[in-house]
Amino acid sequence: MASYLLAIDQGTTSSRAILFDRQGCSVASAQREFPQHFPHDGWIEHDPEDIWETVLTTCREVLEETGVPPEEIAGVGITNQRETTLLWDRATGEPLHNAIVWQDRRTDEACRRLREAGHLEDVQARTGLLIDPYFSATKLGWLLDEVPGARERAERGELAFGTVDTFLIWRLTGGRVHATDATNASRTALFNIHEQRWDEALLALFDIPASLLPEVKDSSDDFGRVDARWLGCELPIAGVAGDQQAALVGQACFTPGMGKSTYGTGCFMIVNTGEAAEASRNRLLTTVAYRLNGKPTYAMEGSIFVAGATVQWLRDGLQLFADAAETEALACQTRSGHSVYLVPAFTGLGAPHWDPKARGAIFGLTRDTGIAEIVAAGLQAVCYQTRDLQVCMDDDMSASPGILRVDGGMVANNWVMQFLADMLGVQVDRPTVLETTALGAAYLAGLRLGWYRDLDEIAELWRCERRFTPQMDEAERERLYGGWKEAVERVRTQ
Ligand code: G3P
Repeated sequence: MASYLLAIDQGTTSSRAILFDRQGCSVASAQREFPQHFPHDGWIEHDPEDIWETVLTTCREVLEETGVPPEEIAGVGITNQRETTLLWDRATGEPLHNAIVWQDRRTDEACRRLREAGHLEDVQARTGLLIDPYFSATKLGWLLDEVPGARERAERGELAFGTVDTFLIWRLTGGRVHATDATNASRTALFNIHEQRWDEALLALFDIPASLLPEVKDSSDDFGRVDARWLGCELPIAGVAGDQQAALVGQACFTPGMGKSTYGTGCFMIVNTGEAAEASRNRLLTTVAYRLNGKPTYAMEGSIFVAGATVQWLRDGLQLFADAAETEALACQTRSGHSVYLVPAFTGLGAPHWDPKARGAIFGLTRDTGIAEIVAAGLQAVCYQTRDLQVCMDDDMSASPGILRVDGGMVANNWVMQFLADMLGVQVDRPTVLETTALGAAYLAGLRLGWYRDLDEIAELWRCERRFTPQMDEAERERLYGGWKEAVERVRTQ
């Protein structure tokens, strides 16, 4: 009997392949970074061949390193950077253009026009999203309008659209399957999250031909088989979810009110709201958490565009340290209660401000400010932004989670996690398995393949490695957070 599940985690800056056993323990992993392309200010693209090559290579590496024969793999789960938009030729599988990445702001103006024409409320009601360049719809519109001949070819049914999951499924199955799952579909702004179908009114609004669209499946479903030429034998693709939703599954947040925050390039806080698609009054997003047996579970999400990317900037841009691991020791050197604030609005502000024109700033510098204070301010910004989301969720949902499960690269930093617990005033739980995104994809595949009976069985596998309990007194917490809010007000443009 096969002993492993293979999870593909195709992220914004790298692709990873991880082998998991039945207990959800990672047995081996491989990772490859790939280039980011910035053709203009605010534009971010990926070469689809880089995405494909790094996925294939990491899958092969993980098999070679462990010596696990492909026959020992029960199935494949895919999780991916969401919203990133691709368009390819159905006959050849060739992309017509680079992928337009979720962070790309090129359709800012198009979104502004749609908002000004009064479409925001309707789009929000159907999709749970906002009208913002973040989502796929206007990116796809841009490709159809700007790539010569694309719109005519789309009308003739010659082209296929997909987010990264769909592109990978297409390539892995040798062009036999054009499908996505409900979580990825829910990030396109073309999908009606209440009716669980592509929405004609949205297709008309964004001017998207229906022939481009993939079939929308459950998150645990039959997505076809990996062609034997890629990994040595045919393997079923049985689980698919956008990376933040997959992390919610990997963190076993299955009951309403349970939530997780992932600190990768950006930060995404997602709270399970069960069968109810709760609308936000505070410009958070309503999204599909996962869909099993045709039944959607919903979540509320706060998306912050820059989290770990601040640490990268401090390291590579300002060269304040050589390795992110040094930031914990640097932050420990600062006197507590220092008043330096770094607002990392490098690509504008995400939730709850959605201010694409805002730009970053550092405030509160004094003669004794040093590298340590600036680094600490960069780390604290991530925690303050999580607090911004918590405030909105408290208002939207009558209570945000009393315990927050965390994952992503930054959570290895104990100083940041303690400050996060202090700033939120809730317990912060760090699990033993930090690869929660990939783990979630593996669990979804495992559910389909009968490895796990139900979500309860998966929840039993979750283990806490360390719990951070709030220690800061209320007055200090509010004083520090007040300073952050002032700093944000000073960079806002709307
Ligand atoms: O919505 C964007 C998100 O899915 C990207 O996640 O981990 O690739 O930065 P990540």
